[in-house]
Amino acid sequence: MTMLTPEYSASLRDPKNALEDLRRKLGPIYGGEYLATLFHSLIRRERPRTVLELGTGLGVTTAWLASAVKENGIGRVYTYDNGSQFEGIRNAAASLLQEVSWPATSETKDYARFLEEVWRRAGVDNEIEFRLCDIDVRALSAGSGAIEGQGPVDMVFADYDHSPGNVVRLLGYLLPLLSDSGSVFVDSAPTHIPTHELIQRVLAELNSGSLTSFSDLGLGEEQHSRIRRLSSTSYFSYMPMIESEHRKQNSTAWIKALPRDLRASGFFLH
Ligand SMILES: C[S@@+](CC[C@H](N)C(=O)[O-])C[C@H]1O[C@@H](n2cnc3c(N)ncnc32)[C@H](O)[C@@H]1O
Repeated sequence: MTMLTPEYSASLRDPKNALEDLRRKLGPIYGGEYLATLFHSLIRRERPRTVLELGTGLGVTTAWLASAVKENGIGRVYTYDNGSQFEGIRNAAASLLQEVSWPATSETKDYARFLEEVWRRAGVDNEIEFRLCDIDVRALSAGSGAIEGQGPVDMVFADYDHSPGNVVRLLGYLLPLLSDSGSVFVDSAPTHIPTHELIQRVLAELNSGSLTSFSDLGLGEEQHSRIRRLSSTSYFSYMPMIESEHRKQNSTAWIKALPRDLRASGFFLH
């Protein structure tokens, strides 16, 4: 058995080390090792109140979102996953964590307990609401999900289905909830050409006041008027963020609402 010095044992309990271990060891499984730190910086800069992650995976990005929220002293991270991929990767995750001496392996049979343990170790469990269920953006939009009553959503990270049809659903159902300068990130979208082109088309329509792309979604009058209000006060821009790495999940779409009138937006201008 390895004998650890008290200093080394203490360093393993340091949440900052745990966060970094998670990022380095488990981040590459879903290709999120650098996106996690980008989101962390963005949350520190923009101080969002409500952050929504669709597709929790191993909870790595969630932990980094939550650590930024915790450092801000304000906000909450809501994350949804049905656990469908956990069985296939839990052993790999456990052995990678063992390489950095995480004795978390006892929790790898049960997805929710695994996540709980990971986030507790990273010191961010109090900032996260996890829902073990199928992602249903229509239900979220109708206010029957966990984000009900939390005010507008400031940041969405959708990391579970980047097909064109799903991206239309994401935008149609989530834009009614988005704040005036909110962001929607969709993983892997820019390097899937049909989705990349679709995002450009939908945003061009929205920026010209049309909601035609959403006509098949069965949106209610309230949802229509919220999107209309958002697109009249904010302009949508699209930044395809593409890695140089040749791997799956090598890109992220950043769709950003920006108030048309910055003077009226409450930003500090100079
Ligand atoms: C790419 S991983 C998420 C990675 C995570 N966001 C990260 O950055 O580390 C996708 C996750 O979405 C979940 N998922 C896929 N389809 C889903 C659905 N329809 N409902 C709920 N979860 C789903 C899978 O179980 C998987 O854990």
